Amino acid sequence: MFVKNCRLGQHNLGKRSGVSSTSAKRRCHPAEATALPKKHLYAEGAEEGLLLYSLLMSNQWQSRDHAANYLTRAQVLPHRDKAEAALLELIQQRVPSLTQVLDLGTGNGHTLALIFQDYPKARGIALDFSPFMLEQAKERFSNNPAVRILQHDLDTPLHSCTNDEIQGPFDLVVSSFAIHHVDDTRKQALYQEIYDRLRPGGFFANLEHVASPTQALHEEFLAIIKAEEDPSNQLANVENQLSWLRNCGFSGVECYWKWREIALLAGTRPA
Ligand SMILES: C[S@@+](CC[C@H](N)C(=O)[O-])C[C@H]1O[C@@H](n2cnc3c(N)ncnc32)[C@H](O)[C@@H]1O
Repeated sequence: MFVKNCRLGQHNLGKRSGVSSTSAKRRCHPAEATALPKKHLYAEGAEEGLLLYSLLMSNQWQSRDHAANYLTRAQVLPHRDKAEAALLELIQQRVPSLTQVLDLGTGNGHTLALIFQDYPKARGIALDFSPFMLEQAKERFSNNPAVRILQHDLDTPLHSCTNDEIQGPFDLVVSSFAIHHVDDTRKQALYQEIYDRLRPGGFFANLEHVASPTQALHEEFLAIIKAEEDPSNQLANVENQLSWLRNCGFSGVECYWKWREIALLAGTRPA
């Protein structure tokens, strides 16, 4: 997908997807794109702005192909095993006993299944909005009545979900490579909704795709993982996300593990 260069406020937005072209004047770093107030995107020509905004920000995860392609590529994502080992170790340290866990953007339930290996008696909610992913999760947990599969769009508040079980309280809320698909305002609101659904002493762990500090480092990351730009991504940097978590009231907020754009951000709701 290509977006032609055009001037919008003070930003030059070049080709958005693909990392191979050197001809684009300057492409918009994902962090910049998501930081752009909508008014800039609409500033010079409403139609062009609207088209560009939807191209930049479109969440493609409800497409079966997009989801299936991820499931193939996720298996070979560099350092995913180390990131998950860090996640599981941290959960074991912070959550001595786990009764109820919520997994936001569960995909095929991969992360939840790892957690159940350590906490076989736990009950869990696997939440996603992609019909394809929900089918995969249903299949994975077909023999586990302790898992509830829920369809919900994270762009809308958790309290709007019709299923009351989403209201918690949870001992653990976990998310893996999912929350970066909502915009930064929604991320902050979602962090508060997560906090509100944790029991006192409960833990939130977000293994996340975060923004690089520069466009060059972002392109290097994409080259290393052999990926193209994903227009569904709305990456936020680690520092901002840690401060959003602290603002919600979380304690022990830290980036517990990081490799390039993959980071483990976590915090506890004080007891
Ligand atoms: C990169 S995949 C990660 C899946 C899984 N957590 C994992 O680690 O393999 C992102 C997941 O987030 C889900 N997702 C993206 N945007 C969402 C939204 N607005 N609401 C709910 N789920 C969303 C996608 O459907 C997809 O399953």
